[in-house]
Amino acid sequence: MQVLHQLPKVRDADLLVGFESADDAAVYRISEHLAMVSTVDFFPPIVDSPDDFGRIAAANALSDVYAMGARPATAMNVVAFPSKLDISILGEIISGAVSTLDSAGCTLVGGHTIEDTGIKYGLSVTGFIDPVNLMTNTGAVVGDRLVLTKPIGTGVVANALKGGRISLKAARPVIKSMTTLNRAASEVAVELGVKGCTDITGYGLLGHAMEMANGSKTNFVFDSAAVPFFDLALELVSKKSNRPGAIANTREYLGTDVIIDESVSVEHHQLLTDPQTSGGLLLSVNESKVDRLMTRLQERSVHASIVGSVVARTEGWSIRVE
Ligand code: CO
Ligand code: CO
Ligand code: CO
Repeated sequence: MQVLHQLPKVRDADLLVGFESADDAAVYRISEHLAMVSTVDFFPPIVDSPDDFGRIAAANALSDVYAMGARPATAMNVVAFPSKLDISILGEIISGAVSTLDSAGCTLVGGHTIEDTGIKYGLSVTGFIDPVNLMTNTGAVVGDRLVLTKPIGTGVVANALKGGRISLKAARPVIKSMTTLNRAASEVAVELGVKGCTDITGYGLLGHAMEMANGSKTNFVFDSAAVPFFDLALELVSKKSNRPGAIANTREYLGTDVIIDESVSVEHHQLLTDPQTSGGLLLSVNESKVDRLMTRLQERSVHASIVGSVVARTEGWSIRVE
């Protein structure tokens, strides 16, 4: 968050990853081979189904722990709930979240609820890692290939769903993706010694890619034809009314740091900054390991794609899309 940059720098030798690099979670060393990973995330409902919303919120919160290569251990609810609503709705949200936490081997241990005008739900998650396995958004190296582990387009689909322009049934495949953990992708990446990783969330593919390119002092080149998009999102994004405001806001924020070739279609152009909820991991992988990584991901039912490469730092731009 922007406001954090105004705070004085933290001086603690055991803080391995703080907020300075805009990474996914904080990492604090406990002993030589053990570090704690902490993150928090919460937001208003994006689907009109409490159970699905709980599952999505949990997968999304756990994702920042997986993006660091860590194993989640405990979680706490962060809840805002209107007193006029039926409390059973909150029960459904939490039971959805717990079923996702269960599949992550993560235990709900508490939380905090306040009264508010609208529902908000999320989780603070604590995980653990041996620091030698740490993946960060500063770990991309020139010559690496970029691998994306989930399709893009959840923002457009959630926006159309909210506006009643598509049914929950039509959105099912996209909801399924948002409730899917990044656990298998993270475990495979750690197994192969991947060091550069982030998850794709609110700033879209290009926004998070830019943080990683800049953090790693490299430039990224994407092949837009290789980026996986949800078919439904490609259809919906052609209509302006379906585009979340964040698409244009992020594009404006990225400015001239991102160069998009004229050959890239309007639909791809828009979806490249579509805000994702519980998006996939963007992995920066040594070229010699990428085939093995893709095979291992497939074995774990992760449908990943090679979407680009890491090139030497050139001033004037950070990301090019061809
Ligand atoms: Co993240
Ligand atoms: Co986050
Ligand atoms: Co990270």
